[in-house]
Amino acid sequence: MPRYDKSLDIDAMTPRQAKREHTRLQAEIAEHDKRYYQDDAPTVSDAEYDALRRRYNAIEQKFPDLVTQGSLSLTVGAAPARGFAKVRHTVPMLSLDNAFSEEDVVDFVERIRRFLKLADDEPITFLAEPKIDGLSMSLRYEDGELVRAATRGDGTEGEDVTANIRTLKDVPQKLKGRNLPAVCEMRGEVYMKKADFLALNERQTAAGGQVFANPRNSAAGSLRQKDPAITASRPLHFFAYSWGELTKVPEKTQSAMVAWMAARGFDTNPLSKVCKSVKELVAFHRSIGERRAKLDYDIDGVVYKVDRLDWQERLGFVSRSPRWAIAHKFAAERAETVLNGIDIQVGRTGALTPVAKLEPVTVGGVVVQNASLHNEDYIKGIGASGEAIRNGTDIRIGDTVVIQRAGDVIPQIVDVVLDKRPKSAKPYHFPAVCPACGSHAVREINLRTGKEDVVRRCTGGLICPAQAVERLRHFVARDAFDIEGFGEKQAEAFYADGLVMEPADIFTLRQRDARASKKLADREGYGETSVTNLFNAIDARRKVPLNRLIYALGIRHIGDINAKILARHYGTIEAFEEAATAADVPTDRKDKGNDAWQELNSIEGIGDVVAEAVVEFFNEKKNRAALKRLLAEIEVEPMEEARSDTPVAGKTVVFTGTLEKMTRDEAKAMAERLGAKVSGSVSKKTDYVVAGPGAGSKLKDAQKHGVTVMDEDGWFKLIGR
Ligand code: IVH
Repeated sequence: MPRYDKSLDIDAMTPRQAKREHTRLQAEIAEHDKRYYQDDAPTVSDAEYDALRRRYNAIEQKFPDLVTQGSLSLTVGAAPARGFAKVRHTVPMLSLDNAFSEEDVVDFVERIRRFLKLADDEPITFLAEPKIDGLSMSLRYEDGELVRAATRGDGTEGEDVTANIRTLKDVPQKLKGRNLPAVCEMRGEVYMKKADFLALNERQTAAGGQVFANPRNSAAGSLRQKDPAITASRPLHFFAYSWGELTKVPEKTQSAMVAWMAARGFDTNPLSKVCKSVKELVAFHRSIGERRAKLDYDIDGVVYKVDRLDWQERLGFVSRSPRWAIAHKFAAERAETVLNGIDIQVGRTGALTPVAKLEPVTVGGVVVQNASLHNEDYIKGIGASGEAIRNGTDIRIGDTVVIQRAGDVIPQIVDVVLDKRPKSAKPYHFPAVCPACGSHAVREINLRTGKEDVVRRCTGGLICPAQAVERLRHFVARDAFDIEGFGEKQAEAFYADGLVMEPADIFTLRQRDARASKKLADREGYGETSVTNLFNAIDARRKVPLNRLIYALGIRHIGDINAKILARHYGTIEAFEEAATAADVPTDRKDKGNDAWQELNSIEGIGDVVAEAVVEFFNEKKNRAALKRLLAEIEVEPMEEARSDTPVAGKTVVFTGTLEKMTRDEAKAMAERLGAKVSGSVSKKTDYVVAGPGAGSKLKDAQKHGVTVMDEDGWFKLIGR
């Protein structure tokens, strides 16, 4: 059952207690939402979830001041339901008829002329606009205030995405100007720029999250987030081009309406143009088509709209499209070709990325022979929420695939032509070893959710050539071996010349240089002195504290703090290696793992993910061999002693309340590194209390004992950060 303190009766709460409980519930509900919507792995029943929501809403009802921007009640409207509330459009959201040729455009204009019984020489004015490839949105303003945002849905009923839309900078919360119609439903397109889409996919790939096939899917996925904070972190934009309910239509033409929307504070497309003949329409189509690849957002055609609104009114609709508008599509930037092979590239962080090797094909005027395949699941046809590949099928070598190229976006495989699949085509087996170094490559499993990370990574950190430079750079970094005169540049140059391929090589440089015919001192930018200095700097680091060595190994998730925790626990590199090698990662949630795993996993501050990374690293015998070669060159000392030369050395510190800039573990490790003692309770021996929001009795104790109290900023100031 929900873990709230039932003794805290809402009616008896002080505003302070209410605030704390509200914050706590908000975090708990957000976590459940994440497990439910993003991980697809809820840990509470719907009834339990609803109870949390009810309590949260009841607190807000009693303490309305708590309803701020971040409030969860703003995200799902009043109903504590999961999923988006449905919204009925007062004016349906229509779609557009398509034209694919100049002939279709001539027919469209002729139909209008006939319908309106216009003379052959009567000019018809159109507004021609780019057709943005995003998702249409209806924004309802009442007395100038944004009250509701709804997706198109089936045209009659859409989804309420108000809280998410409020995070878009392009959408005004309040319309500009005076004497506004009481109800203004402004419509247009939400879209993501191509560059933002690429950057997002890169971030998602690195973080093991969902990748999207194109900017449109990316915009849709970003908008349909239960947590508006996620939408807020995604760069979405909006162009206004149309309207729904409008209590008073202020202008007489489409073009004047667009200008009116711009004056109300909306972005409108700057490329739109008034055209007076078929010739002008077609010229517009051509010119936009030529600029298409260079635009920073995707378009899939242009739209022509009869400019006079009275004519639009008379023309009306056929089925679900207006007679007064048409979409003139571009020839698809898609093509079919054969997938000849799949290359696996290894990134600097060890991520294995599949790349499609295609029979060269021209798509939108460009020859394409490589396309992104994102990750293993994409090939298997199991994109996280079905957004990855369109028809949900797997991709096989030998398949005929549909390639899409949108502007300068990396070509994508968006479909597989199953009818053309050769009988011999077999499901693709993603390699379980790194193609660059032969070490095993694994997908981390989140033991809590049981879900696999989408990214498969090489575990041969110390020896993998694809990661070598990155690892060497990390190895010599400030918190690791900290070798003066051996930085990123040197790591790269020495690696490129085959002089330093792995950490141990750093320590044999002097010896090898003595025997070499081409000396380091002869290299450009070096001389006798600088080489001697470098060798001396290397020798100065032959003795290394255990925590620095553990950190330097570059094991995933092992930062400076975890390295200390592990060093403190195991005491020697041999004990650490032995324990990690003996540990078996449990295969499912019921399996508890062997003793070594349990010991590792139960170290305070070391969770499943970190423990698994440690085990994976030592499971790779190439890493163990590289470590052995390194240990032959260096001497490992016990963990670094606490420092005595800092402003907090020898002082006793208590951390209390919610820390916002660091975790408790980090705070503790940082204080200890600086020579302070961290205590759990306040006494007269305490020197400092660092209090975050929600600090309670410890704060009172501090006052009682006259102990100096500071917030996190005060702490950072004290330690000089
Ligand atoms: S006008 C009644 N103008 O295209 C007229 N639509 O294929 C409704 N679209 O659902 C649409 N750019 O999402 C219009 N400049 C533009 C557009 C545009 C993109 C989308 C819109 C609509 C779809 C119809």
